[in-house]
Amino acid sequence: MISLTVNGKKYQVDAAPDSKLLWVLREQLGLTGTKFGCGEGMCGACTVLVDGKARRSCVTPVSAVKGKKVVTIEGLPESHPLKLAWIAEQVPQCGYCQPGQIMQAAALLNEHPKPTESEIDSAMSGCLCRCGTYQRVKIAINRAAG
Ligand code: FES
Repeated sequence: MISLTVNGKKYQVDAAPDSKLLWVLREQLGLTGTKFGCGEGMCGACTVLVDGKARRSCVTPVSAVKGKKVVTIEGLPESHPLKLAWIAEQVPQCGYCQPGQIMQAAALLNEHPKPTESEIDSAMSGCLCRCGTYQRVKIAINRAAG
């Protein structure tokens, strides 16, 4: 059994230590907002926060987050400035990558509450979007940073 704290709740999960966090979140905890894209840490769809920093959950062994605080898209309040900005700027197109985009942006704002354009570009460059919402993602981050 592995003890986890996800979105402020404590869980005991029956998983092998090298099971990937993504699948524990989705299949054992039912938190399906975190998406599977590439499975290789390359696309950002599976991004969550671990102790406030962005982590690719598809390549993170569940044992690596023992005793740490995991936050998924479900754990960001609906009134979070990023969620409000995403709605106001109508960022999503198909929407699939957007939970990862928002969690990556949340990590950015944790580190840089008023990020520069280049800080946004470098933080977000690993989050791929096949619909090409990049420009709106950037506008929404600036709006959330207000
Ligand atoms: Fe994890 Fe692509 S699914 S980075």
